[in-house]
Amino acid sequence: MQDKSSLPIGVFDSGIGGLTVVHSLLKLLPNENIIYFGDTARVPYGPKSPEAVRGYAKQDAHFLVSQNVKMIVIACNTVSAVALDVVQKESNVPVVGVIVPGAKSAIQSSRKKRIGVIGTKGTIASNAYTNAIRQFDSDAKVFGKACPLFVSLAEEGFINHKATEMIANEYLFSFKQEKIDTLVLGCTHYPILSEVIQKSVSEEVTLIDSGIAVAEEVKQLLEEKELQNRSKHKPNILFYVSDVPEKFTEVGERFLGMKMGKVRRAEGFLI
Ligand code: DGL
Repeated sequence: MQDKSSLPIGVFDSGIGGLTVVHSLLKLLPNENIIYFGDTARVPYGPKSPEAVRGYAKQDAHFLVSQNVKMIVIACNTVSAVALDVVQKESNVPVVGVIVPGAKSAIQSSRKKRIGVIGTKGTIASNAYTNAIRQFDSDAKVFGKACPLFVSLAEEGFINHKATEMIANEYLFSFKQEKIDTLVLGCTHYPILSEVIQKSVSEEVTLIDSGIAVAEEVKQLLEEKELQNRSKHKPNILFYVSDVPEKFTEVGERFLGMKMGKVRRAEGFLI
């Protein structure tokens, strides 16, 4: 039987944001080979219908399966929220989405069981985080809020910017009345803005990065399935996108926190 442990972990997202998840994976699992796919031709997924996102997710998963990966990580919260089953059906390898690990981490951190969730319109409308959190504790109170502008602000590099502060205060003020003690950053882009978000909701609120939570889940799963890469070679990190790579590289290095090297174009996604 083929030794699968040295095969790459496949990670995909609607575009650039999933690189924050790759950042968490590299920190926790520095020995793993990774193939990342960002669907830059069709981003953003957040405002699209669940049907459209499910169709895209099927093709994204198919691309990673064709690259012979040992596991698939859905870095995109919107896909994890509305199309986890599609990706599982399309794949012959274990699939991990960000929702359940993020929900688990939130419930573990919250003392008052009053939890806020922020994400794209699609993620919040799906109630996926609320349902997952309630699976862990049916008494938990969950308050969702879509914060679509955070995606553009993070990509523009408006990190500690007055405009971001104002928009954060506008989006997040209701969490003060709801007296949350934990806030899930339920979108790939939001960890980039965590300082501003933290300031806006107060220092007492614990922020949950679902990218960090999913990296921990992946580590555990690799151990359980004895799939950790034990090779002594420097791991390979490959990046594929569905549109031209230039902008992806420029913004992506900020999200990833390191140089990316060559970004390749995956064929067949542009209609
Ligand atoms: N990657 C998406 C998510 O985490 C955010 C960007 C988009 O709307 O496509 O939900």
